[in-house]
Amino acid sequence: MEMKKRLVLPIDRGSPLPIYYQLKEALKQQIESGVLKPHELVPSERELEEAYHISRMTARRALEELEAEGYIYRVQGKGSFVAEPKIRQGLLWLTSFTEDMRERGMRAGAKVLKVKVVRDERVARRLGVDPGEEFVMLQRLRLADGEPMALETSYLRRRFCPGLEEHDFTDRSLYRTLQEEFGLRLGRAEQTVEAKVADEFEAKLLEVRPGTPMLSMERITYLDDGHTPIEYVRSVYRGDRYKLFVELKRR
Ligand code: GLP
Repeated sequence: MEMKKRLVLPIDRGSPLPIYYQLKEALKQQIESGVLKPHELVPSERELEEAYHISRMTARRALEELEAEGYIYRVQGKGSFVAEPKIRQGLLWLTSFTEDMRERGMRAGAKVLKVKVVRDERVARRLGVDPGEEFVMLQRLRLADGEPMALETSYLRRRFCPGLEEHDFTDRSLYRTLQEEFGLRLGRAEQTVEAKVADEFEAKLLEVRPGTPMLSMERITYLDDGHTPIEYVRSVYRGDRYKLFVELKRR
């Protein structure tokens, strides 16, 4: 078997580390070092069971965790394959999803789930504006080369962009529209990132299993005067496809 020749995974039965964990870490190492390449077939549960004299449960657990962490993906009836490396998202610049994807040579797209004119006290409070103010609420599933990556719900202060709700955002950048159609210049944003797991709704839309790790982000965007809030966004990014990058300087 090809796998036996190439993949000699170090499993130490005397180690206090569980076997499934050792197997998972060993496979991870093979993926990270490029021995196993993106879209290459990963040994099946049965092959692992036979090659390493472990139980099927142990092999399954290792593969399940690798899948949840975004290292492999499964195709019904075909087996598990090595996933593409995660998308590395910098946290320094105020960029749009469209710009982020373009920079990576990927095509940004969206499935528009909801566009509505709303009043929302909680959002108004977050932005520090009048509780009766109108927002354009735009909920989109964001796609990269057709693959679902994030679920984003944006609230835009309608008084700055009346009629925004008439646009079709399937193939259109929100930030570009704000800039080009409404002459709004974005200046800065405040953003938080939290860990969460995908709930049923998110999992279905993002085509992952419920319980997959997610990056939950909240952003408040300001105009270029630095203090006029224009946008409130809640987004859920696939933690199996994304990692965040920040450069730190020593004080
Ligand atoms: C990113 C941000 C969102 C922002 C969006 C605009 O995804 N997380 O806060 O609303 O970009 O993207 P676009 O201009 O591609 O519609």
